[in-house]
Amino acid sequence: MKVIVCKDYEDMSKKASEFVINYMMEKPQIKFGFATGSSPIGLYKNLIAAQKDGEISFKYAKSVNLDEYVGIDPSNDQSYSYFMHKNLFDHVAIKKENIHLPSAPEADEKYAEKYRKELEEFGQRDIQILGLGVNGHIAFNEPAEKLNKYASIVELDQSTIEANSRFFENEEDVPKYALSMGLAEIFDAKTIIVLANGKNKHEAVKRLLNDEKITTDLPCGLLNLHPNVYLFVDEEAYNG
Ligand code: GLP
Repeated sequence: MKVIVCKDYEDMSKKASEFVINYMMEKPQIKFGFATGSSPIGLYKNLIAAQKDGEISFKYAKSVNLDEYVGIDPSNDQSYSYFMHKNLFDHVAIKKENIHLPSAPEADEKYAEKYRKELEEFGQRDIQILGLGVNGHIAFNEPAEKLNKYASIVELDQSTIEANSRFFENEEDVPKYALSMGLAEIFDAKTIIVLANGKNKHEAVKRLLNDEKITTDLPCGLLNLHPNVYLFVDEEAYNG
């Protein structure tokens, strides 16, 4: 894993976006795996600006997203689908038919099945963007005795519900289930970019970088096994 320690959120977003922009210049037909959450917003902003400046084009880019809450309509402003349109897709010239957003109106594995097929048809991603949960989750793969290889309906950890409640009016409004990409699918990406900022990510980052053993109670720890991971981490998350 390559670790790039950045001064702050802005610096992290800048360095990560430079990496992505360079990649897109070389390969305009890039296949992205996108993540939601506060971590990649700055990166997306920089990509929007780079397109505006004519540095990059999304004309041939394709994307698939990592996860989505169960039971939330895509038009709901808490949905990850809404997030992606608001923070990226509405501002770049990506073709509608090249955007793939998982959805699960209810906690039924048939939606996971559909998403698995979509991922297979989509093919290998060039770059997968990832954030980290405070508990070390990636996508919605929570610490557990066993982790899912493939896309599944998952139950959210209490710590995730608490962390994500900041986006909802009440904690009770946070969905209890999500549809999430599985570990094997995440690991299929050629390159993985992990973004981690803020003190509340320090514990996960510390364990990711220092734990001697890899265990499923720290899903991000498995990233140590992928040959091409870039961790862009700010000083707060790195030093605590
Ligand atoms: C959420 C998402 C993850 C995201 C993570 C971090 O629960 N499922 O995909 O990376 O938590 O979110 P944030 O970037 O807001 O800290």
